[in-house]
Amino acid sequence: MAKQYFSTELLNWYMQNKRDLPWRRHRNPYYIWVSEIMLQQTRVETVKPYFERFITRFPTLMDLAEAPEEDVLKLWEGLGYYSRARNLQAAAKQVLELHGGEVPNEKDAVFNLKGVGPYTAGAILSIAFNQPEPAVDGNVMRVLSRYFLIEDDIMKGSTRVKMETLAGELIPQGRAGDFNQALMELGALVCTPKSPHCLTCPVMEMCKGRIEGREDTLPVKKKA
Ligand code: ADE
Repeated sequence: MAKQYFSTELLNWYMQNKRDLPWRRHRNPYYIWVSEIMLQQTRVETVKPYFERFITRFPTLMDLAEAPEEDVLKLWEGLGYYSRARNLQAAAKQVLELHGGEVPNEKDAVFNLKGVGPYTAGAILSIAFNQPEPAVDGNVMRVLSRYFLIEDDIMKGSTRVKMETLAGELIPQGRAGDFNQALMELGALVCTPKSPHCLTCPVMEMCKGRIEGREDTLPVKKKA
């Protein structure tokens, strides 16, 4: 009941409120991948122009695989965490060699790409291929811990696994890509780390964290 309500209301909200972001205008798996790598440690507003320049200079995965590394790093300048760019290019070469230049849509193959962890793999599989895989990052853990009042420490691997199982169960039939992005969008726009905007939240009525007045104390994050 609480799960069904959450999934339905969140997806409806997203379809009406989603931001028009450059990587949402395409279903090209390579573009989705580039955007998710850029978004790993960088804010959406910062990523936008970098993403546009990147796909203009490297419109296909082959263009990226065959470019001089310094060109790739040049376009990454200012985004930081340059290993992301190096891994991305190395993985593009992997895809060219192993998969004929097509981003694989198979779970094991995606997990094996350099620089791609469980979150990014789930994002690529769901957004680009609509596969029912969870994509759980810090934003998503915050949303789930509040709505379901989960008090486990989100720094623990076991908590992530629990959240991934839950997030997977919540995906509406055939709507993985939109639903996972809806979760991210809610975390970014409404269920924010400080002073969440509960009054505009599409799932406020059944949010256990809110009902218990606990939204400001969740997620639980113990110091390492
Ligand atoms: N953060 C990580 N992935 C994202 C996406 N696809 N859209 C918006 N924010 C994100």
